[in-house]
Amino acid sequence: MVKVLIAGGAGYIGSTIASACLDAGIVPVILDNLVTGRREFTAGRAVYEGDIADGLLVDRLFAEHPDIYAVIHCAGLIVVPDSVADPVGYYRANVTKSLDFTAHLLRNGCRRLIFSSSAAIYRASEDLTVDEDSAIETQSPYARTKAVCEAMFADIAAAEPLRVLSLRYFNPIGADPKMRTGLQRQRPTHALGRMIHARDEGLPFVITGTDWPTRDGTGIRDYIHVWDLATAHVAALTRFDSLPGPATAINLGTGSGTTVRELLGMFNHVSDRPVSVREAGRRPGDKVGAYTRTDRAARLLAWQPQYDITAGIRHSLEWAAMRDDLLSADADR
Ligand SMILES: NC(=O)c1ccc[n+]([C@@H]2O[C@H](COP(=O)([O-])OP(=O)(O)OC[C@H]3O[C@@H](n4cnc5c(N)ncnc54)[C@H](O)[C@@H]3O)[C@@H](O)[C@H]2O)c1
Repeated sequence: MVKVLIAGGAGYIGSTIASACLDAGIVPVILDNLVTGRREFTAGRAVYEGDIADGLLVDRLFAEHPDIYAVIHCAGLIVVPDSVADPVGYYRANVTKSLDFTAHLLRNGCRRLIFSSSAAIYRASEDLTVDEDSAIETQSPYARTKAVCEAMFADIAAAEPLRVLSLRYFNPIGADPKMRTGLQRQRPTHALGRMIHARDEGLPFVITGTDWPTRDGTGIRDYIHVWDLATAHVAALTRFDSLPGPATAINLGTGSGTTVRELLGMFNHVSDRPVSVREAGRRPGDKVGAYTRTDRAARLLAWQPQYDITAGIRHSLEWAAMRDDLLSADADR
């Protein structure tokens, strides 16, 4: 039976990947320091509670699981404004610790690494689409930590017997369709999270920015169901050894862009309580957004997303309704 180490496997995406692995007959071993992850998301799974930079812990994990086939590295901090306020903390958490982790992995004979990267590294093009060869233009310390890690892994893969696949996620929504896990935060700040909050509080949803160069003036994103993201990792594990280079990057999105106004229209269609809208100006640091061309993911992973945005909204709402019962009181960290 194939076994994978999932660093950050108690978080939103990592725990969903662990579920997708289990459903595919792959055994996940989780390494997580629970800085934002949830112990509840690791129930019944092999778990090591600790830091990716802790070499002794990583050595023990590999000694106890010498048959680990690959490592999926989702561990990191992800809040853009926090990265602006605390760049030292973010570079340490996302870059320094990733470097230490890689050294621990090399020492333990790891040959395959899948890295959670982000579409936040791209400069949007005129037509608002990007592919893996589009220009990199990072706009925040968070995005730069991702770009730096990708470059660092490519350098390491060129010199060491380690191959690296960077998966650049677009905008994950939804929850595990079987409701094992979902977003642990009570007040997510992305558009769908703010819509759910507006609905729950009976407040209008505020569209920030209505003068972007999109079809209706609101920002555009490529919303991808988190379960589809997770199954892409299973596909990547299956096809890892046929990837073209020692370091490869693949975008994970649906291939279509959705504006904030369109997302709200879909939300109000799915939700039993529609929300009204209030328009406001752009916030500092906002971006028009982008969506991906999906050719490389289809070609190299033989993967394509299965869920549409409506399913993502439905699963997010379903999860939001049960989240507080599943997670203990300190959940909103
Ligand atoms: N959520 C998004 O919108 C998004 C988009 C693009 C890329 N990503 C990337 O996907 C990955 C997972 O994101 P997420 O949304 O699941 O976030 P998350 O905060 O839910 O998960 C991150 C997990 O990593 C753990 N962690 C952090 N630092 C650690 C360390 N030093 N040692 C061990 N564990 C540590 C946390 O406890 C948490 O469980 C991140 O690398 C993020 O940059 C996320």
